[in-house]
This record gives sequence, C-alpha cells and structure tokens, in this order.
Amino acid sequence: MMGGKLGTIWARAGHEIVFSYARSEQKLKRLAREAQGNARAGTPGEAAREADALLLAVHWSRIDEVLKQAGDVSGKVIVSCSLPMNADDTDLVIAHTSSGAEELAKKVPKARVVSAFGTVPSEVLFDVFERRRNATKPSLVYCGDESKSKKTAAELIRDVGFDPVDAGPLRVARYTEPFTLLIAQLAYEGDAGPELAYRFERFARKR
Ligand SMILES: NC(=O)c1ccc[n+]([C@@H]2O[C@H](COP(=O)([O-])OP(=O)(O)OC[C@H]3O[C@@H](n4cnc5c(N)ncnc54)[C@H](OP(=O)(O)O)[C@@H]3O)[C@@H](O)[C@H]2O)c1
Repeated sequence: MMGGKLGTIWARAGHEIVFSYARSEQKLKRLAREAQGNARAGTPGEAAREADALLLAVHWSRIDEVLKQAGDVSGKVIVSCSLPMNADDTDLVIAHTSSGAEELAKKVPKARVVSAFGTVPSEVLFDVFERRRNATKPSLVYCGDESKSKKTAAELIRDVGFDPVDAGPLRVARYTEPFTLLIAQLAYEGDAGPELAYRFERFARKR
C-alpha cells in the first residue's frame, strides 16, 4: 500500500523507480507498468544497489528479512515509513524509550535512516499528489540524524505534495510513531473515511 503508491507517485514526478519485495513478481511488474513513468520491477538487492534512496515500507515483522535481501546498504539513504507494530497491527512493540526508526538505524549503522511518511494513511497519498500545486499543503513530519539525507527526504516529501516539517533527530520518531496511532484512529474508526492528512499552523509571536 505505502510502497506501491509512493513509488507510483515518484515515478510520475520524474524519478526512476524500482519496485521490490512482494510475494508475487507479477504484482511488482504490474505496479511498474501502471506507474506510467520510468519504473521497473526488481529484487531488493537490485533496488539497493542502484538507488540513491530506498523506501522501507514493510511490516515490522519483515524488516530483518528485507534488509538481508537488500544486502549492503552502506551510505544509502533509507526513508522508512515502517512502524514497529505487533503481528495483528493493534499496538506498537517499541515505544517511549526507543522507536522503530532508531532500532532500524541500529540494524544498519552505515545507512542514513530518515523516518517519514509513516504518519499518514496510504489512502490519502494520491489525493495529496493530485493537489500538489495548491497553495495550502498538508504537513508531513520527518526526522533523522544527518542533514544531507534529510534534504533528500524533504525533496521526496515535496514531490508527493506535502509541506515537509523537520521534527529534528531520529529519536523524535518516539513521538511521531505513537502520533500515527492517533491518525489511524481518526482515519479508520470514524465514518469520514481514511483520506486524512494533517497540517500545522504557526502564528507570529506577539511582541
Ligand atoms: N498502509 C498504511 O496506510 C500505512 C500508513 C503508515 C505507515 N504504514 C507502515 O508502513 C509499512 C508498510 O505498510 P503497508 O500497509 O504498505 O504494507 P503492505 O502493503 O501490506 O506490505 C508491504 C509489502 O510487503 C510485501 N510482503 C509482505 N509479506 C511478505 C512476504 N512474506 N514475502 C515477501 N513480501 C512480503 C507485500 O507484498 P504482498 O503483495 O505479497 O503482500 C508488500 O509488497 C508498515 O510498517 C506499516 O506499519 C502503513
């Protein structure tokens, strides 16, 4: 859901995309075909070898396996939207004293991990992209420890149609990941539908 949609959007925004990791290669090929851009299907290893940035968008239980398949990710920017959820997606298995993003960074210490996109439901992504030229854009928080990789992430966020909000170092994922459970509550438990994004407004300080 996240990888397929974001990959499609980035292909349409002009990026070269490799869709990887699914039980069916046919699905990856279909995604590449329907993206209508410079996109193809490949293995996680092929994607990791050639890409400037990798989107990690798998269930928490699949992280070790997908990293193994990706191989050497030294120096790569890994943008992760993966949340550390339990098997039935009802609760975070890491929170408060650490975050999924920090635990991921420990697994791949030579990669440059940025946490982004995990705070919005996949159902809203195409709507945001369609309205990317509107003056008022929804916000999207991201965090990471290294400025160059955060710049790459911010560009990818802008390409989708969000206004990137730098929330600080990777440890801030301790706050953004539980925030997603609030977004999920609003998106999936009400009657209004999951096409939900958020926007922060700042007000000038009165002197
Ligand atoms: N969905 C959302 O709205 C949303 C929002 C925010 C954050 N997130 C987070 O983003 C991450 C991805 O979520 P998602 O909903 O996008 O996931 P998903 O679509 O259910 O799965 C992601 C990919 O993993 C593949 N996969 C699953 N099990 C596999 C296996 N055993 N072998 C090979 N490939 C396998 C799926 O392929 P198959 O086609 O074979 O299943 C799919 O291509 C999660 O950590 C989630 O918590 C999701």
